[in-house]
Amino acid sequence: MKLKTKDVLTLAELSSKEFLGLIDSSITLKKELKKNRNKPILKNKTLTMIFQKPSTRTRVSFEIGMLQMGGHAINLSSNDMQLSRGESVEDTAKTLSRYSDCIMARVYDHRLLEKLSEHASVPVINGLSDSFHPCQILADFMTIKEKKKKLKGIKIAWIGDGNNVCNSMIYGAALSGVDMSIATPKGFEPEKTVVTESKKLTNIELTTDPFIATKNADVVVTDTYSSIHNNDPKRMKKFLPKYQVNSKLMSNAKKNAIFLHCLPAKRDQEVTSSVIDGSQSVVWDEAENRLHAQKALLAALIYA
Ligand code: CP
Ligand code: NVA
Repeated sequence: MKLKTKDVLTLAELSSKEFLGLIDSSITLKKELKKNRNKPILKNKTLTMIFQKPSTRTRVSFEIGMLQMGGHAINLSSNDMQLSRGESVEDTAKTLSRYSDCIMARVYDHRLLEKLSEHASVPVINGLSDSFHPCQILADFMTIKEKKKKLKGIKIAWIGDGNNVCNSMIYGAALSGVDMSIATPKGFEPEKTVVTESKKLTNIELTTDPFIATKNADVVVTDTYSSIHNNDPKRMKKFLPKYQVNSKLMSNAKKNAIFLHCLPAKRDQEVTSSVIDGSQSVVWDEAENRLHAQKALLAALIYA
């Protein structure tokens, strides 16, 4: 599958067919890998990865994903690049485009990604910004499809901070006909434009009550209250105890509901240990699926 878009910065660049196609390709790539039948579809292709912020899953899954497809990834901490000495994003984008077939960047400010995308002649992938985390959502919807065997008609309850992961999840829901109910404290809602655009395609409910959000939910999701770009300890008071995913809140969802968290998690803050380490949690499959989902994305962007 080849995508129409050059870059994936939010998920909104994708058509519904492309999004669902990527989820299916991810599942196929996972099966092939498990049977030792992965093919070198990106032989001799290279990915440059810029990290302004720390990462475990994103870095390792992109690097190993490229390796498994016969390609190579180069990790660039932005501190070690001339970017840190004032070289412009424009010049960085043009330079990296002359060496590599794709650029992945994790940045503080989403506008930096937009600049990279504007000036790079090769595809640019968002590996997390202050506003979006599209690769996470590909893996999350892949996990939901694996566990629930379908996407359309599923209800997701998002609990806590309406953050970067939440924004991309709303786009994912809109592209796949999934309903979302989002419970956040006042002032922590997801981005208005994302909600307004997505409401045209699926049901997106905003509430301050986690028990309204989890009612009839097939999937319960939360994320840290202290994102890498926003770690003021005073924020905690706004979320606890009301927005913690604990056994009582989980039992308000459907009996067979699954629990997702992009990780890293702060146990006994946004989620209790009993939930994240309990039988409804699928967070390790979700983390593994970053690898498969990103391989599908890389193949669809680079492999013509
Ligand atoms: N979920 C996620 O993006 O993890 P990392 O910050 O470890 O990459
Ligand atoms: N919302 C979190 C996700 C980390 C993967 C953050 O931005 O830090």
